[in-house]
Amino acid sequence: MDFAHIIPPKAPSAWLDMDALDHNIKLVNQKTKSVQLRLATKSIRSIDVLHYIKDKSPNFIGLISYAADESVYLLENGFGNILCAYPTLDAKSVAATFDFTKQGATMIWMVDRPEHVDVLNEVAKAHDVIIDVCLDINMSMPLPKLYFGTKRSALMSIKDVKKLLKHIKKYPNIKVSAAMGYEAQIAGLPEHLPGKTVLSPAIRLLKSLSQKQVSKRRRSIVAYLDKQGYTLKLVNGGGSGSMDFTSSQPEVSEITVGSAYYKPAYFDYMDSMHEFQPAAGFVLPVTRQPEKGVITCHSGGFIASGATGADKAPVIHYPKHLSLLNDEGFGEVQTPMAIGKTGNDDEMPRLNIGDMVWCRHAKAGELCEHFNELICYRQSGRPTVAANKVEKQQTMITYRGEGKCFH
Ligand SMILES: Cc1ncc(COP(=O)(O)O)c(C=O)c1O
Repeated sequence: MDFAHIIPPKAPSAWLDMDALDHNIKLVNQKTKSVQLRLATKSIRSIDVLHYIKDKSPNFIGLISYAADESVYLLENGFGNILCAYPTLDAKSVAATFDFTKQGATMIWMVDRPEHVDVLNEVAKAHDVIIDVCLDINMSMPLPKLYFGTKRSALMSIKDVKKLLKHIKKYPNIKVSAAMGYEAQIAGLPEHLPGKTVLSPAIRLLKSLSQKQVSKRRRSIVAYLDKQGYTLKLVNGGGSGSMDFTSSQPEVSEITVGSAYYKPAYFDYMDSMHEFQPAAGFVLPVTRQPEKGVITCHSGGFIASGATGADKAPVIHYPKHLSLLNDEGFGEVQTPMAIGKTGNDDEMPRLNIGDMVWCRHAKAGELCEHFNELICYRQSGRPTVAANKVEKQQTMITYRGEGKCFH
């Protein structure tokens, strides 16, 4: 997108580059065409955008949600196939989904411990319904001095699964109808983070070793469930960073993808994401110039979740010749930036009070927690916000803009 000639209707505001989003949708569709596609709502956080992607994705099957009350909201907004990706203790919201499942919607809840099943069983029994559950298989690779993966699910082996199934069998209202094996260490771990590139060869090696283990474990657990007579509606795997790998796995019926659509800054450092284009971010107005060579923008401190590090801060997207001041970084309400030199005047526009600095968040959906809407731009055609004049503006409302806040 030609940021130099865009005047946003307001700033700070969040932007969505529709050309880049379309490009990313096409790429996801190409890469995942051998399986069904489930969108990760946590990485989108906008009903408008979810519908937009769904309408352009022939292999779309449904959504993977991140909270029980969010699942109700998604059902209310026309989505009929939801897999809640993380265990819930929110019985009230689980009960609120029954009106939809009675009408034919698919709603599946994640479990990996007896306690998760007990909560679901209580509410299922009380309402005399059957609840579908999905077993979350831990795909991490524990090594003697390194745990390569995420610490979430307690199910790592057939033995673990067997034990949980024994518990579930006591409950006629609970039906095991899905399995998920999310290989986070492959799908969500960048190979070449700035300042840590010395680790890149080791990360690549670990990823390739881990792929072998993921294939073996996920496949053998799915085969075990099959042998035990469980008819699975779906076997879910993957994420944005593992599209090629996960889509090629015969035991997987569907892949989850979310972050690839906005392509946030953290994914710039992932080998598999180079073809994707940055599609979302935020724009800040220059409001001050404390000294020669430094401008200060209003707002900006949208730091991403996760282990602290420079990779969780936003990045400056345009103009390129700006850099952050180490002492301040992206501030809560004020973000000073140093004006550098690129050697090319075209790339180095003069910055005045009222000019704009375009930035990107490190993570995908978290951007939407800071803005009520994403303002949509296109390089050519509709909907466009053109130089000095708002021709036609379209916005996509975020969860926050709908007054929603899920955890
Ligand atoms: C269960 C699960 N599946 C898939 C994903 C991948 O999401 P994304 O494509 O946004 O990286 C995640 C991300 O954390 C996840 O928790």
